[in-house]
Amino acid sequence: MYLEKLSLLYFKNYSSLDIRFSPDINLLTGLNGSGKTNLLDAIFCLCLTKSFLNTPETQLMTLQAPYFSIHGNFMGERGEHIIQYNYDGRKKSFLVDKQSYTRLSEHIGKFPAIVLTPYDTDMIRDGSEDRRKFFDTLFSQADAVYLHQLMRYQHFLKQRNGLLKAVSEGARLDYVLLETYDATLLELNTAISYTRSKLLQQLLPDVFSFYSLLSPEEEQPSILYLTEVLSADFAQAFEQNLKKDILLQRTGMGIHKDDFSFLLNDKPIKQYGSQGQQKTFMIALKLAQYTFLKKILQRRPILMMDDIFDKLDDVRIEKLIEWVKRDLDGQIFITDARPERSTAIVGHSSKDFRIFNIHHGSLLP
Ligand SMILES: Nc1ncnc2c1ncn2[C@@H]1O[C@H](COP(=O)(O)OP(=O)(O)O)[C@@H](O)[C@H]1O
Ligand SMILES: [Mg+2]
Repeated sequence: MYLEKLSLLYFKNYSSLDIRFSPDINLLTGLNGSGKTNLLDAIFCLCLTKSFLNTPETQLMTLQAPYFSIHGNFMGERGEHIIQYNYDGRKKSFLVDKQSYTRLSEHIGKFPAIVLTPYDTDMIRDGSEDRRKFFDTLFSQADAVYLHQLMRYQHFLKQRNGLLKAVSEGARLDYVLLETYDATLLELNTAISYTRSKLLQQLLPDVFSFYSLLSPEEEQPSILYLTEVLSADFAQAFEQNLKKDILLQRTGMGIHKDDFSFLLNDKPIKQYGSQGQQKTFMIALKLAQYTFLKKILQRRPILMMDDIFDKLDDVRIEKLIEWVKRDLDGQIFITDARPERSTAIVGHSSKDFRIFNIHHGSLLP
């Protein structure tokens, strides 16, 4: 699958843009603040229904503009699809081939996309929520049932927490209701946790091979899934935790407390990894995400690399570009503020490539 054509109206710093891309390599160059990342974000919005920077829709509109629209023509394995994402300040409309979804989440996984950014390494140091979110987004693209279970889990967790709050404020505990919530949550806990564990195992071999592709050192990256849910006495422990839950007005155990630990040679990379090792780890993880989704979905995700060359050493840049030129079989968008470097990068490739020079939200001829 690739994006053939993109049209923007009043999207961030683009008042109007029409652009045709290469099915292979697309290089976006331009000074800082010209709109390279915004363009990637527009593509991401069409693929995943929301901004990868988590920008709310009101801020995706050009300042003072009455609406924004993003239209994309995608060439898929089974023909062309048109995605239209419009927002008028109040209402969002998201259409694929002029059809809307009953639930927007049905779109997830149909047009997979992955963005690599220099901020990816933050995930190593941030709290567990960001890592859960990363794997949830990935596994949701790969497995629609997982996404559905996750949404049901959030719903029932909220209901249960509401009940706990009412009790701590003096209401009588409705045991029948609590039991229905708990039974559903226990079932979902097991299912979600099992899928997390299973899909992570499928992802890991590629993390390892991309890491060794990028790094000249013999280092072994790994990811450990940390959960209480899969232990034999989880159901009992969950039940015994009720008093504490009431006291704290929220559910203290379950997959919403899971974490993923990133290791290099069996040691946490957060404490022991150098900056270079952390960067290499995250690029390997993101590229593994690419091959993982491609395998499971049987379609090629769109890959985007936003300014990732700036803080990488030359050896790693070279290895990465070699991989793009030799092994990548899908469409890629690369942003780079330094055109001379990027031009050298894509030169001598048998693949089709186009270079776009962006200036203040417009394409230079
Ligand atoms: N809602 C908006 N309306 C108008 N301009 C915006 C909006 N959001 C962001 N911008 C502008 O977009 C520019 C940043 O674009 P960005 O894509 O991050 O640049 P680059 O990646 O090329 O450095 C900034 O000048 C910023 O002011
Ligand atoms: Mg940028």
